[in-house]
Amino acid sequence: MNKEHVVYVTRRIPEVGLEMVRSACQVRLWEGEMPPPKEVILQEIVDCDGLLCLLTDPLDAETISAGQRLRVISQMAVGVDNVDLPAATARGIPVGHTPGVLTEATADMAFALLMAAARRIPEGVEKVRAGHWRTWEPLALLGADVWGATLGIVGLGRIGTAVARRAQGFEMRVLYHDRVRNLEREAELGLTYAALDDLFAQADFVSLHCPLTPETHHLIGEQALRQMKPRGILINTSRGPVVDAAALVRALQEGWIAAAALDVTDPEPLPPDHPLASLPNCIVVPHIASATVTARGRMATMAAQNLLAGLRGERLPYCANPEVYGIR
Ligand code: DGY
Repeated sequence: MNKEHVVYVTRRIPEVGLEMVRSACQVRLWEGEMPPPKEVILQEIVDCDGLLCLLTDPLDAETISAGQRLRVISQMAVGVDNVDLPAATARGIPVGHTPGVLTEATADMAFALLMAAARRIPEGVEKVRAGHWRTWEPLALLGADVWGATLGIVGLGRIGTAVARRAQGFEMRVLYHDRVRNLEREAELGLTYAALDDLFAQADFVSLHCPLTPETHHLIGEQALRQMKPRGILINTSRGPVVDAAALVRALQEGWIAAAALDVTDPEPLPPDHPLASLPNCIVVPHIASATVTARGRMATMAAQNLLAGLRGERLPYCANPEVYGIR
């Protein structure tokens, strides 16, 4: 490894990953708490051999093509919808990402949100904090059963599958939809493949685990929300724009569905005066599904591995655009 390699890191990441990069390259680190502005990335990328970035950095074609020396982009996230992958591929730049290591943490969060919304936990906490807990009430804060309910999983990738495994413990009936059926997993986990319309109509809980693509943008809009049960609950730990936020606000206000629990929103961050931030039947947490010490440490390590492999001219262990190597 040539320590001459210059790497720009767009935010402080867990030390375990940063140290791996520092020990092999010259690191220029953006120390700000907020992401670097586009102009800064445009300036920094000009003479960098590698870029270690986050999902908050929009890497469009203009930015990527400014990286005249750029040999590798390594993103510390599994989702890479902020990166113009075709532009990177066209310039022969592999893009690394971090699949697998955040699967269980994200599935835990999806299930935590599902249960919190079903059992109205934030409303209960709020009631105690506000001093409104006066007695045991037979009719207060009645929620939905999780045990034995029907769960609809949209996107049966690693995380969707991990959520399905958790649902087994609650003896849930699990429907799923994906572009392709997975007969093996159906048999292994007792899942039922469903067309999207049927999944929306039958599920008590709809949990989103698909990537953000032009096809999944606003997949959950007015039509889908009106197809869901009035007692239905929507959980989103995928990407905010998979859900049409304006339609969701109406669905929650007008009772098309009972509740939503969101780790991701559109826009992000969600402005505090956005209706989704204050509706009592909506839980929003700030994109923290992978935020465990273990998961973030592994993501940083994997991002460093990808970066260093790219600088050495080796194939990235976890590449989001394998077509750069002629692989479809
Ligand atoms: C990802 O990795 O894509 C998550 O959204 C953040 O961990």
